[in-house]
Amino acid sequence: MSRSEETYRKAIKILAKNSYIVTIQGKTYRRSIPSLDFYRHQWFWDSCTHMLALNQIHPTWAYDDAYSLLAGQWKNGLIGHITFNPDEENYFPGPQFWGTEKESQHGVISTGIIQPPLLAMSVGYLYAHAKDRKRVEKFIEDALPGVVKYHQYLKTYRDPEDCGLISIVHPWESGEDNSPLWDEVLATIKMEDIPAEVIETVKTSRKDLELGSSQDRPQVIDYNRYIYLVDLYKKLDWDYTKIIQETPFAVKEVHTNSIWARANEELGNLLTALGREEEGKLYLSWATQTRKAIQDLWDPETQLYTALSVGKGREMTIREDTLAQFMPFYANAVREDVLPVLLKKLTDPQQYWSVYPIPSVPITSPKYEVARYWRGPMWPITNYFLIDGLNYYKDRAECKKIQEELLTKTLSTIEQFSFHEHYDPLTGIADSYFKDRSGMGFQSFTWSAAIYIYLVNNYKINFAEPVL
Ligand code: GLC
Repeated sequence: MSRSEETYRKAIKILAKNSYIVTIQGKTYRRSIPSLDFYRHQWFWDSCTHMLALNQIHPTWAYDDAYSLLAGQWKNGLIGHITFNPDEENYFPGPQFWGTEKESQHGVISTGIIQPPLLAMSVGYLYAHAKDRKRVEKFIEDALPGVVKYHQYLKTYRDPEDCGLISIVHPWESGEDNSPLWDEVLATIKMEDIPAEVIETVKTSRKDLELGSSQDRPQVIDYNRYIYLVDLYKKLDWDYTKIIQETPFAVKEVHTNSIWARANEELGNLLTALGREEEGKLYLSWATQTRKAIQDLWDPETQLYTALSVGKGREMTIREDTLAQFMPFYANAVREDVLPVLLKKLTDPQQYWSVYPIPSVPITSPKYEVARYWRGPMWPITNYFLIDGLNYYKDRAECKKIQEELLTKTLSTIEQFSFHEHYDPLTGIADSYFKDRSGMGFQSFTWSAAIYIYLVNNYKINFAEPVL
């Protein structure tokens, strides 16, 4: 058996194993979770990616993930970044900390913040790639109203200015929790702003340091700020009209908004495919609006996409070079004159084209840290965005070549080092830094397994023997 086939089989096993059974309104669903070691709840953007692979293995499991997310959707349309498993207690901040019980539907408790809005992509993918048309049509009938409601929530509450860019109100909403993109705004939250009980709670309750290595994890000061924001929103009663007005942390940036643009495109296309063309037009127009707004974030002077801090008293422009710079590929929003600049940066071995690309910040940046969350390591999810995004540009030879190389490198990194949460961009694993550890982040990680399966299938990689 080749290494690829062996990896594929292992990926299937991980996806099958990393799950949880829940009962919602008398019905049983299978929920996928990122890892058995630590992340034992359902994470929104992980799950949306898991669905792409689960569809290959067992479509019912993919649909169950979507049903489970949608079951916890709030009345206002929000879907939390974590949907909590009722029997799981060992996680901080867990359900009791968020104060979201009164928003919960059908007994499903979630957090009160979002993650990048990938759901329309996944639902559209499931629709397009179903073998059993009858079953998928039933699934779409069930799921689509929730997806539409979710997009309405994002537009209404996160882009009240109607500028095309949604605001995130917590670093965790980006999914790139600890990225340097948030440093400047977070720094405006001073220790003296943070209530003593929040600091005490963080001190006594943080669980990630017990299981993971503290070298990977966010620092204490940042963690205090993360929890401070949650505490503030809880005190504002999770009323998003108020939260948007009051929060010190509201950022309009290119990573989440590229996904937002693409999600609207997918939703518009799905509605059109279902014969609901008029409705579809609305979302396609939102996609166009967001693409244009992303292009306007480009700053010719620094040659960077900027981010806008729009939090109360925190208006500023952020100029930070992270891999979010490449996300406009995923949204098909890269302007002609910007394309060569991005390609040069991407393929520069001193910046992003490391041995195991793509690092979350350039390897020579003063902010680069080999193992700390989103400040160095490579995550397969972000490689996937770029590989898929380059499809829009592949009539250009250089884009096609980069796409092929990145695809090969992503698959072979996983084949070589197995399914870690993230990877050292220079050596693949960080064993030269942590002699006692075999890899980075948590292992047998569902996301990495899902992306492996998706890439193999979607890019028609042929193994010598069929594995399914
Ligand atoms: C970390 C990541 C986040 C991801 C979660 C589960 O918190 O920063 O993006 O969703 O882990 O994998």
